[in-house]
Amino acid sequence: MRSKSRPDASVQPRSVGIVGAGQLARMLCEAASTLGIRTVVLASASDDAAVPAASDVLVGPATDPSALRALAARCDVVTFDHEQVDLDVVSELEREGIVLRPGVETLRVAVDKAEMRTRLAAAGLPVPAYEVLRVADLPTRGASELAAAIGTFAAVHGWPAVVKATRGGYDGKGVWRVDGEAAARALCDDTARGSSPLLVEAHVDIDIELAVAVVRGIDGSSLAWPAVETVQVDGVCREVRYPGRLDTDLARRAAAIAREVAAVVDATGVLAVELFASGERLLVNEIAARPHNSAHWTIEGATTSQFENHLRAVLGLPLGDTAPAAAHVASVNVLGAPSRAPSTLAGGSCDPMSAALAVRGAHVHLYGKTPRPGRKLGHVTVCGDDPEDVRARAWAAAQALGAPSPAPVLPGAP
Ligand SMILES: Nc1ncnc2c1ncn2[C@@H]1O[C@H](COP(=O)(O)OP(=O)(O)OP(=O)(O)O)[C@@H](O)[C@H]1O
Ligand SMILES: [Mg+2]
Repeated sequence: MRSKSRPDASVQPRSVGIVGAGQLARMLCEAASTLGIRTVVLASASDDAAVPAASDVLVGPATDPSALRALAARCDVVTFDHEQVDLDVVSELEREGIVLRPGVETLRVAVDKAEMRTRLAAAGLPVPAYEVLRVADLPTRGASELAAAIGTFAAVHGWPAVVKATRGGYDGKGVWRVDGEAAARALCDDTARGSSPLLVEAHVDIDIELAVAVVRGIDGSSLAWPAVETVQVDGVCREVRYPGRLDTDLARRAAAIAREVAAVVDATGVLAVELFASGERLLVNEIAARPHNSAHWTIEGATTSQFENHLRAVLGLPLGDTAPAAAHVASVNVLGAPSRAPSTLAGGSCDPMSAALAVRGAHVHLYGKTPRPGRKLGHVTVCGDDPEDVRARAWAAAQALGAPSPAPVLPGAP
C-alpha cells in the first residue's frame, strides 16, 4: 500500500529530452530504458541512430526554437547529444524556464574552442599556448593579414603551428597542422572563403593522448572515471585503453584537472576532457559537455556507465560508482571502410556480425548508421586481465565489422 505521508516513496515517472539523435543519444536511450526513464529525441531525420531506441521522437532542426520548445514540453529536463546549437536560441529557452542540463553557460564554453581556451586559461588550467584570430575582422584584414598573424605566433612558438576552426570541428575536421608561411597563406585563403573563425596554437609534442570523463551533479558534487589513453589516427579516435600507458600519478593528475574543469564550467552531467601528456606537462586539449566517445568503455568496463550517470545527474538522482570493473579494458571504434576497400558492414563474403561475435568477450555496439568511409558506425569493448590480449580481441572484432585497418603500433608495445 502506498504511504500517504511519503508520496515520493513511489517511483516517479521521469523523462529526458535529448537535442540530437546520434549514437550518443542512442546509448543514452538504452541506459534510460533500463531505469524506466522515458526519452524524447529531437532528431534531424527519421533515420537518425537514436530513433529506434527512443520512447518518443520529434523531427526538426536543433536550432529551431519551436522544435526545441516542443521537445521541452514533452519532458522534465533537456540535455544534448551534440554541440550544434544556437546559443541565442537556447539562452532564450533557459530564460523562459526550460530546464537545460548542462545549462547555457556551460554550452557557451563547450561549443567554441576559442571560448574554451580562454576560460580554462583564465582559471589557471594548463592549455597549449594559443591565440584567437579574431576573424570577425576578416573582410578588412584579409587572408594575408591572418596568415601574417599565424606567422607572428609561430615566430614565438615555432613551426609547425596548429590552426583550428573554433566551431563545428570533429574527428580532426577543422584542425590543420601548418608547417610554414606558405601553408598558412594557403589555409587562410581557404578559410577566408568560408569565413570560419580560427584559433592558432603551439604544436605539442604529444607523448600520450588521454581523456577523463567526469560526472557532475546538480549539487556540484562530481566523480571521475579513471583516465584512459586514447589512440588517434589522422585526428580520429580509433581506440581507448584503460589504463593503457598511463601511470597512477599521471592518471591522478589528469582526473584532478578534469574535475576542476567541470567545476570551472559549472557542468551538469557528463563532461569529457581530452588532454595531452608531453614530458612532465599535462595540457587540456578540448572538452565536451556531454557523453563522449572516449568513455564508451564505461558501459562494460566501469560500475556505472557514462550514459547512466549522465541521466542520473541531469535528473538530480544520486550518481553511480565510477570504479573500473576490470583490470584492463580496450574499446575500438568501428569505422566505415574506405570506398575502394571491401565494406564488411555493407555485405562481404563472410558474415561480419558472426565473425565479431565469435571473438571471446567482445561487446559489440552498432549504431544502425549507414556505412560511409570513416564514419563511426559502432565500437567494440573487451575487458580482461591481460592488456595485449584485451587489445587484440577488441581489434579483431572491430576489424571484422568495419574498415580492415591494422591496429596502430604503440610506442613500447612488444
Ligand atoms: N596543439 C596540438 N598539438 C599537436 N597535436 C594536436 C594539437 N591539437 C590537436 N592535435 C591533434 O589533433 C587531434 C584532433 O584535435 P581536436 O581534438 O582539437 O579536434 P576535433 O576534431 O575537434 O576532435 P574531436 O573529434 O575529439 O572533437 C588531437 O586528438 C591531436 O591528435
Ligand atoms: Mg578531440
